[in-house]
Order: sequence, then C-alpha cells, then structure tokens
Amino acid sequence: MARHLITSALPYINGIKHLGNLVGSQLPADLFARYRRARGDEVLFLCATDEHGTPAELAAAKAGQPVAEYCAELHEVQARLSEGYRLSFDHFGRSSGPHNHHLTQHFAGRLDAAGLIAEVETMQMYSPTDGRFLPDRYIEGTCPNCGFESARGDQCDNCTKQLDPTDLIYPHSTISGATDLELRPTKHLFLRQSLMRERLREWITTRQHWPVLTTSIALKWLDDGEGLQDRGITRDLDWGIPVMKGDAPWPGMEGKVFYVWFDAPIEYIACAREWVDAGKGEDWERWWRTDKGADDVRYTQFMGKDNVPFHSLSFPVTILGSGEPWKLVDYIKSFNYLNYDGGQFSTSRGRGVFMDQALSILPADYWRWWLLSHAPETADAEFTWENFQASVNKDLADVLGNLASRVTKFARARLGETVPEGGAWGERERAFVADLAARIRTYESHMDAIEVRRAATELRAIWALGNEYLQQAAPWSTIKADPEQAAMQARLGLNLVALYAELSAPFIPDAAGTLRAAMHTEPGWPDDVEAALTRLAPGDAYDVPENLFRKISDEECADWKTRFAGVRD
Ligand code: 2FM
Ligand code: ZN
Repeated sequence: MARHLITSALPYINGIKHLGNLVGSQLPADLFARYRRARGDEVLFLCATDEHGTPAELAAAKAGQPVAEYCAELHEVQARLSEGYRLSFDHFGRSSGPHNHHLTQHFAGRLDAAGLIAEVETMQMYSPTDGRFLPDRYIEGTCPNCGFESARGDQCDNCTKQLDPTDLIYPHSTISGATDLELRPTKHLFLRQSLMRERLREWITTRQHWPVLTTSIALKWLDDGEGLQDRGITRDLDWGIPVMKGDAPWPGMEGKVFYVWFDAPIEYIACAREWVDAGKGEDWERWWRTDKGADDVRYTQFMGKDNVPFHSLSFPVTILGSGEPWKLVDYIKSFNYLNYDGGQFSTSRGRGVFMDQALSILPADYWRWWLLSHAPETADAEFTWENFQASVNKDLADVLGNLASRVTKFARARLGETVPEGGAWGERERAFVADLAARIRTYESHMDAIEVRRAATELRAIWALGNEYLQQAAPWSTIKADPEQAAMQARLGLNLVALYAELSAPFIPDAAGTLRAAMHTEPGWPDDVEAALTRLAPGDAYDVPENLFRKISDEECADWKTRFAGVRD
C-alpha cells in the first residue's frame, strides 16, 4: 500500500477566503487525497491556519479583539467552512500551537549551529509615539512610483511595486497616524540561503517530473540577479513565535518573533503532531522522519504560484540545513490565478465570491465541480457567472443528473422494485464497456499525474458516454418488443449509476454519497470495470435518488452577478 503525505498551503487567518484561494490549493489537494484513498493508499492530508504576521495583528486590531482571541475565532470559522466544502483533512491545525513554537525554535537552533544564520544590524522605522518598530504593513505613505496615497510599507496595492518603508513619501504609522518616524538600528536574524544555492540547484534539477510552472519559478529565484538572497527571519512584533535557539534564549533577540514565512511551513510538521494529540493518529514520525519510515512516503504539496519560492527554496533550506532526517517534498503542484468576471478577486474590496457566500447560494458540489474543472493549471482562468451556469446545467444536471434519474425512474416504473433480471450483454454492451474501460484508465492516469482539468474533462466524457449508450439502446422504447433486453440494459444502467458514484466521488463527494445510498453500494474503486458493472445483481434493492442537481436560472445568474460585483455585505 502506497503512503501519501499531502499538504495544502495554509490559509492566512485574517478573514474568509475567496474561491480563487480555494481552487489554488485546498480544493485540488482534497481531490488528490480523496482519489488516493479511493485507490486504497494510506493518506495523511494536513492543513492549518497560518496565524502569525502583521496581517493577523492588524485584522485583530480592526475587529477590536486581542490577537489570540481573534485567531481562535477565525480558526473555527475557517474549520467550519472547510467542512462545508467537504475538505477531507485528517487534521486542520493552527500554526500558533505549541508544537509549532517548539519545532520552529528547534529548527532555528539547528540552522544556527550549522552556520546558516547571521545576526545583522538593520535600520528600521521606529515610532516614538507608538513606542515600537513598525514593520511592513504598520506603515503607509504615498507611493513614489504612482502617487497612490495609501501604499503600504512592503508593497503598493495600486501599482504592485515592491517597496521598502523608507521609499514612502510622507510615511506614517497605521496604528496612531504618527508621522514623527525615525530610522533606528535593530538586530535581526538572516537565513543564509545563498550558502545552500548549489545544493538546492542539484535537488531541484533532479526533480525533473515537477510541473513546468513550479520548476520555472524555483529556478528563476535561484538564478536571478536578485536570486536566493539571504532572508530576514525575525520581526519586531508581539504576536508570533519568540526567537529562541531551541530551548535557550537568544541573546540580543529579546522581544522579537520569527517571521511568519519562517514558521508557517514548519507547521506542516507540527500539524502531524497535533493530529496525534487529537487522538486521530498514533505515529507522526513515520510520515515526517526518513529514519522512522518516511522514506517510503510520497509527499505532495499544493499551492498558488506566489507560494512556490517559499516551498521550493526557503523551506527546503530549513529542512536540509537542519542536518536532520526530515522528509523533503517530492512533488510541488502549483496553480496560476483565478480571476473574477473581468478583473481580480479582491479581499480588500470584497470583489468576487467568498467561501461562505458561495455555500449560502448553492451546495458544495456545484462549486467543487466548476472550480476543479476550470482549475488555473496552465494559465490564469476566469470565473464568470455565465460559464458557471452553463457548466452546472450541462455537466451536472443534463448529463450526470439526468442519467441517474432516467435509468432509476424507468426501471422502477416498468421493471419492478428490485434490480431487474434477464438477458445477457450483446455486441452494443461489450463495445460500450470496452470504450468505458479505456476512458476510465485514461481518467486514472490524469488523476495519478494530478492533471486536474484533464481528469475533469475525462470524467465528463465518461458520463456522456453512458448517456449516449442509453440514448442509443433506448430500453424505454424497446421494452415492449424485447423485455429481456430492456431489463438487461436497465440493469447495466443501474450499475452504471453505481460506477459513476465511485469515479465522481473525488470531485463531487455529496452527490456520490446520494448515488451510493440509492444504489445500496459501499465505496470501492472499479479496478475491474466489467466486474463493477455487474456488481448489482438481479433482485438487489435500489432506490430512485432524489434530484441530484438543480439548474441555475438566468434570473439567478443576473442577480448573483450584481450582488458579488464588489463591497462585501
Ligand atoms: O499565501 C498564503 O496564503 C500563505 N498563508 C501560505 C502559507 S503556506 C505554508 F508555508 F504555510
Ligand atoms: Zn504605486
């Protein structure tokens, strides 16, 4: 039995994520986790909230809550939404938990012992009024590039230029509005990534099977003039993991915390320990330590393209630099961006559909299907309401839903209460089953390779093939002349419904559950397609499933389009 460790990029704690965030990591990771489990593999699927950094502090201040309380609350909100989308995490942890504190401090100590940490004195903006240093987002001012008046210390939201707080014109504190800012010296720790450059290059270039998007971003950062700079891994903040060398204090670093991007990926490991603490598993080390069995594990990470540098370079520096036998990632699946109706999703402007809103208008499967079948794999993709309506109405309602309802209603109305008896497969059935088996093997190969859109296209073709077969066989027309044949075809149709439940479950788990319940079947992958299509035998019980998918009307479509155009309600 193969063993798969799967992690999704950790969503920031500050607020509810939009559908673009969902399709860039958590949802495809869930698709893969569900598929591997369905194929009989042992899976550990982990995710957590990413709780440190200035965005968390600022969001808590805006909500008028202490940061710890704000994070605890938003963690619960995100956990409930994950359940709503049927994200099948084995554990949904928190980067602010004690295991991550301990492990982050441990890694820092190891990296220091290996000579990979430098203490560097830098000049930073200090606010005497606030009595503190002001990192990135605690400073705003006018962008020197475009003149935008609310540019942040780290980036201008208007022209996207990366900034340093000292670049801003009229800089002021976002806490107090104070303008009497001054540059003061402060000491920070830098991870000497540049020393690991050749080791990383060797590691990355031997991962030839990585997707082009991942490898090209990783190599660009490795080789650019700007590439693989040493990186500041501490900040002057209150909220975060205190800077320590293992269990020992770090002289000169009192009152400072680790930078959020240093501790967040370490939470992938800490989360496995939380999973054990929660009583859901027994041994986290066999997933994470290569000296304890993890060398048999295949580790796949899912993320948006902006996260690739941290996962392909910085986190591997932490792992390799520690000199300890931690598991390294085997495959990084990265995604482009999903845009929203002619522009970008925007959390700050409330533009687009957010996870809670989407679920309030339609069940999870509708969103899962559209998002996964349009995943931004090879290029950016765009959500439009018209396209969403067309996909749902056609793929889900007309093809899959219609097949399930037509077959079961016909069999129940004309052939009795149980799976009908009589007849043997003819030429048409044998040809159909051969075509179907070939398509299923293609579908599996796309799922194995995590080619999400291709897998969705193949699944849609598999549904359509069943519809075509039934359309041509038309047992509802031939039943008078040849009742035996019609019964055999209805039986095959019922088996097809049961088979589709299994194949579709990774994409649309709720609908699959409804179909299984109606067919009285248990989960089981159709390794042998012929056997799967004779699983329901004459006399077996079945029910007519409730309407699987409803259609979206033009009026709803127009209404939603206006409602989600901007400014979240
Ligand atoms: O981009 C993001 O949403 C980050 N919170 C991802 C962190 S992934 C990991 F390293 F924790
Ligand atoms: Zn600007």
